[in-house]
Amino acid sequence: MEFRKLMEERRSVNYFDPAGQVSDEELKKMVALASLVPSSFNLQPWNMIVLRSPIDKARLRKVAMDQPKITEAPVVLILLADEEGYKENNPTVGKVWESMEKKGYMKPEQKGWFLGAISKLYGGDNSLAFAVKNTAFFGMGLMLAAKELGLDSHPMDGFSREGVMKEFSIPANFFVPMLLAVGRFDQSKKLLERNWRKSYREIVISEL
Ligand SMILES: Cc1cc2nc3c(=O)[nH]c(=O)nc-3n(C[C@H](O)[C@H](O)[C@H](O)COP(=O)(O)O)c2cc1C
Repeated sequence: MEFRKLMEERRSVNYFDPAGQVSDEELKKMVALASLVPSSFNLQPWNMIVLRSPIDKARLRKVAMDQPKITEAPVVLILLADEEGYKENNPTVGKVWESMEKKGYMKPEQKGWFLGAISKLYGGDNSLAFAVKNTAFFGMGLMLAAKELGLDSHPMDGFSREGVMKEFSIPANFFVPMLLAVGRFDQSKKLLERNWRKSYREIVISEL
């Protein structure tokens, strides 16, 4: 789909077609496309839990303000932002380094600099911002990829973070930035018109 059309047609869809399934193949394609979003040092500090079974979606709905789309959508993703995704012992960091070295982004002798730089930039008080900003790009990638594949989605932060962490035994290194319902819009329903957006003048606070 042309990019302009993709941006214009993606909506947060409240009503999912109960018969509109999302295949494993479609979900994998969606994730592969979304994975092309940029991330700090290509560290990709995102993971997710995929919920498909009605029982598990009901468990999630219970801790997510009883939002009906959670049980109506065929797939719900719990996005996870890894606050430890910059640490030397994280397997992703090793793979990122290997790839950077192999592809000529960095020389072998720069490994110490790389590990020091990511630890300084993203460690301590910065780890939450690091994890969440990158995972939010991934979330946007998932929503656009869904649309490209003929699917619809709905992001949600109407949930109890503590409740979700507990219900799904999510390890403490993860922050849950959003849930994402994925499926197909129920064509028998009507979405409200696209809501107001800030103008250029309202977005720019100074032009220097
Ligand atoms: C991070 C995030 C969290 C959101 N949380 C909820 C939510 O919990 N429930 C809900 O109904 N909509 C939620 N929304 C959807 C927004 O209300 C919606 O994106 C906005 O009104 C613009 O509509 P559009 O996505 O159709 O353009 C969320 C959107 C984002 C990006």
